[in-house]
Amino acid sequence: MERAYFDHAATTPLDRRVLAAMIPVLEGGWGNPSGIYREAQLARGLLDEARDRIAGVLGCSPSEVVLTSGGTESDNLAIRGAALARRESGRHLITQATEHHAVLHTMEQLEREGFELTVLGVDAEGFVDQDTVASAVRADTTVVSIMAANNEIGTVQPIAEIARAVKERNRRTIVHTDAVQAAGAVDIRPDALGVDLMSVTAHKIYGPKGAGALYVRRRTPLEALQLGGGQEEERRAGTESVAQAVGLAKALELAESERGQRTRHASELRNRLWRELNERVHPIRLNGPADWSRRLANNLNVSFSGVEGESILLQLDLEGFAASSGSACSTGSTEPSHVLSAIGLDSDTAHSTVRLSLGQSNTEDQIQGIARTIEEITARLRALSPV
Ligand SMILES: Cc1ncc(COP(=O)(O)O)c(C=O)c1O
Repeated sequence: MERAYFDHAATTPLDRRVLAAMIPVLEGGWGNPSGIYREAQLARGLLDEARDRIAGVLGCSPSEVVLTSGGTESDNLAIRGAALARRESGRHLITQATEHHAVLHTMEQLEREGFELTVLGVDAEGFVDQDTVASAVRADTTVVSIMAANNEIGTVQPIAEIARAVKERNRRTIVHTDAVQAAGAVDIRPDALGVDLMSVTAHKIYGPKGAGALYVRRRTPLEALQLGGGQEEERRAGTESVAQAVGLAKALELAESERGQRTRHASELRNRLWRELNERVHPIRLNGPADWSRRLANNLNVSFSGVEGESILLQLDLEGFAASSGSACSTGSTEPSHVLSAIGLDSDTAHSTVRLSLGQSNTEDQIQGIARTIEEITARLRALSPV
């Protein structure tokens, strides 16, 4: 049976062009970039070139790019690194309720260490507006972290407006955004967004896992979390993985140059899938923004009331379709998703939810196939359900 993959928000398959760019580096660029001899200098050259290309996509200077192991590390380094570097001038931090746990748990850990944390609520579609954020900013607010796009419900936040409002209130407050899901979907150039720190990862845009970057605007204070060598201008110790950097550079370049085509493909299929599901299954509910233009093009988050989301997913897997209920990191947890709770879903509705995230490999036939299969599965499960 041919399988169809509907979990691109969790991770994406490696693009062959990314793999092709990485293989010669793994084979020939294995030297330690910190050495002085020829093998090392070859690796250094490849690393510098990858950093230049990442900076090219982000529209920033290469020295503003810190290479990391992915989105989680970038979020940790951004928030903790900035909060610790500025702890003498303030200890108040702000974030919002629907952030990824890489942000929320980092913030909560700082709170346990004596920082004061404000977690802002969101509206029923997952938005937080600039006035709400700005009015929470105080003289001692050092870090604000608001994600560019949500991994579960696809909400694309107005980051440029939020960053501007924060800076108007306190120009010394450092603004971070987690752009892990936004990369390749919307404009994430830090200058366009007005942010000081920004996290990206390669594996959501057809690059390798374990490769990410943190954009650090020049003169933004940042304390290193990982101690050791002086790599990444003292901001992230550890021998650099040149092949991972090359993979991230190639994945980012492709995501940017193909952004129009990719988002068109995803949104056409997404619209089709939503139409099909509406015709076939009742009642259903779309979670996240109803305005497609304010939502990630590839995201559908749907509640099928009266049916367990996990049961739908298990049945879908047996029928050849891979999908998930939300954050991959929370799979297996019996707690309702914190994102769905934050937008006001009750526990039963949250537990009846499935996230379908589309990507390059999906076809019209697969859309028909998954819609038909969900219709059959939900009918079967509803017939068995006692309620
Ligand atoms: C919004 C968001 N932030 C951070 C992460 C973590 O990224 P990584 O898997 O590269 O550590 C993810 C991935 O699940 C994500 O969706």
